[in-house]
Amino acid sequence: MTMRTYRVTLANTGETFEVGEGDRILAAARRAGVWLPFECGWGSCGTCKVTVVEGEADLLFAEAPAMDARDARRRRMVTCQSRPLSDLVIKPTWVSDEPRPELPTADHKAQLVEVEELGLQICRFRFQLEGEAVYRAGQYAILELAPKLRRCYSMSDLPGSPVVELIAKRYEGRPGSEQLFRLPVGSSINMELPYGDMWLREGLRPVVLIAGGTGVSPILALVRQLVESGDQRPVRVFYGATTQDQLVCWDELASLVDRLPSGRLHGALLTGGDSWVGTTGLVTDALTPYLEAMADSDIYLAGPPPMVNAVRVLLREHSVQFDRIHYDSFG
Ligand SMILES: Cc1cc2nc3c(=O)[nH]c(=O)nc-3n(C[C@H](O)[C@H](O)[C@H](O)COP(=O)(O)OP(=O)(O)OC[C@H]3O[C@@H](n4cnc5c(N)ncnc54)[C@H](O)[C@@H]3O)c2cc1C
Ligand code: FES
Repeated sequence: MTMRTYRVTLANTGETFEVGEGDRILAAARRAGVWLPFECGWGSCGTCKVTVVEGEADLLFAEAPAMDARDARRRRMVTCQSRPLSDLVIKPTWVSDEPRPELPTADHKAQLVEVEELGLQICRFRFQLEGEAVYRAGQYAILELAPKLRRCYSMSDLPGSPVVELIAKRYEGRPGSEQLFRLPVGSSINMELPYGDMWLREGLRPVVLIAGGTGVSPILALVRQLVESGDQRPVRVFYGATTQDQLVCWDELASLVDRLPSGRLHGALLTGGDSWVGTTGLVTDALTPYLEAMADSDIYLAGPPPMVNAVRVLLREHSVQFDRIHYDSFG
């Protein structure tokens, strides 16, 4: 059976490309070498929004955070999460002439080669790609865990090898993480990488890294980069979790931070035991004594949305500029 394809034309440049039935517009453009702007790849940032000038397209992720009722009325779509239903003419709302160097995004076949248990329902997954994984520390991959089941996971290791390391938590009864934890070692999935904006900026400002739960994954990668590059900036790392058995990779993080010329690690547990010497409370409680000094820092933040939102509010209240805060909200 031959697969149907649709022709998509860019209204502003006249460039065209083909999209196979069911394929995403952004992915097809990338494979065809046609540059369309994007950043998150999953429907949250809105960078890839286009106006559908002619034809019909279908949104594949109805709850995409970047979409609202006004977009639907104005025939705007996120190309990372939509497919054509006919030939299309589209007009990007955000125009750029060339790919961003930090987003050399490509498709990979990824074979699961190892699963390491780190803590309560939290594992480190190692996937072997066919070639070298090109990304920046702090970025993430989108895994196609099953047909139409795509989820984002951040790399916890440095680029430069064909092995990609991810740290993920299993949420019972929820499709994406359950499917990841069900994958047999030896099985292969499709993986797109890299995506995201949480890579380390150069400069002289102090660096603050804040992780909540599995947000430790990209933060570990960023600390590794600071260590490996011999970075001299002062670095403070904050890491919060609910209980000790969810504070995974703490020792690994501590030994990396020890290797920084001026590094400090602060932990926060909601329920700390008698032996816990860090903050008992939220990661925002651990941050509080240091907030005044942070207005002058570059800040990187990853974890569950309530934690990311709470930290951003706190930072804004302490005059940290928006453009100094780079974050991945895990939902
Ligand atoms: C940038 C980013 C980085 C992340 N990094 C990690 C990590 O390193 N480790 C980790 O454990 N978790 C990470 N997550 C969270 C992870 O992607 C899943 O949301 C989480 O595993 C729960 O998925 P679930 O299906 O089990 O639960 P569910 O509650 O069913 O998942 C819902 C979430 O899945 C996402 N989603 C739903 N539909 C789609 C779709 N069609 N396409 C894309 N996304 C969709 C949305 O974020 C939504 O909030 C990250 C999330 C993001 C956005
Ligand atoms: S919404 Fe972010 S790239 Fe599509």
